[in-house]
Amino acid sequence: MNAAPARFQGIVPWRRVDIRRRREIASLAELRALAMSGTMHAIMPYSDSSMPDIAALIKAIDRPLALVGMMGSGKSLVGRRLAQRLALPFIDSDAEIEKSAGITITEIFELAGEDRFRTLERNAISDAADAGPLVLSTGGGSICTPETATLLCERTIVIWLQAQPETLLSRIGSISSRPLLHTDDPLATLRDLAERRAADYGKAHITVTTDKLSAAAAVAAVLRALDSHLAVP
Ligand code: S3P
Repeated sequence: MNAAPARFQGIVPWRRVDIRRRREIASLAELRALAMSGTMHAIMPYSDSSMPDIAALIKAIDRPLALVGMMGSGKSLVGRRLAQRLALPFIDSDAEIEKSAGITITEIFELAGEDRFRTLERNAISDAADAGPLVLSTGGGSICTPETATLLCERTIVIWLQAQPETLLSRIGSISSRPLLHTDDPLATLRDLAERRAADYGKAHITVTTDKLSAAAAVAAVLRALDSHLAVP
């Protein structure tokens, strides 16, 4: 396989897929290399002969799959694609909170404070945890609230999408919707939060490191990890 061009190597922000570049790409080998680097994941399905038996996996899932991890770890993007692969509903706890509050997460932090937000978050996650098999993307700090951690660990399969702070920042793009990153140095804030939260994320049943993975490859890694966790025959 050809190596991906230098400017596409390394960490690639998942959301920035260059539409013009897509049209210029000629060879299948180049397409495949770009898909693996993360840039072209939107048009190249990930295929791998070591993939688990999806039908057997679906049968073995008896509770929600909850994705946890720092802001920018890919919980929403990977979660949505994972749900598609497993033919399960997808719920994003932040989106549920915004829908029921009628205002944005940033506004909730500004108007009511973080503690109130954590209560709304716990309630949204509790509702999802009771809803049977589905994929749940949680807010980055959810598992750091003890009651929320307990309900996640007892009622869902918790999957930690782990990544380095530099990777997280490159995937976040705009910090406007992340009130905790409205600081002078968002990278330093991410480093600090990641360090303080490591023990909470460590409660997850499954850990998948996503730094060099495209979204499609991250989904595949989660499926494989889930398959071994559930010991699907
Ligand atoms: C938060 C992460 C955000 C959102 C809120 C707080 C956190 O969600 O819940 O801004 O504490 O890390 P994402 O992880 O989806 O960005």
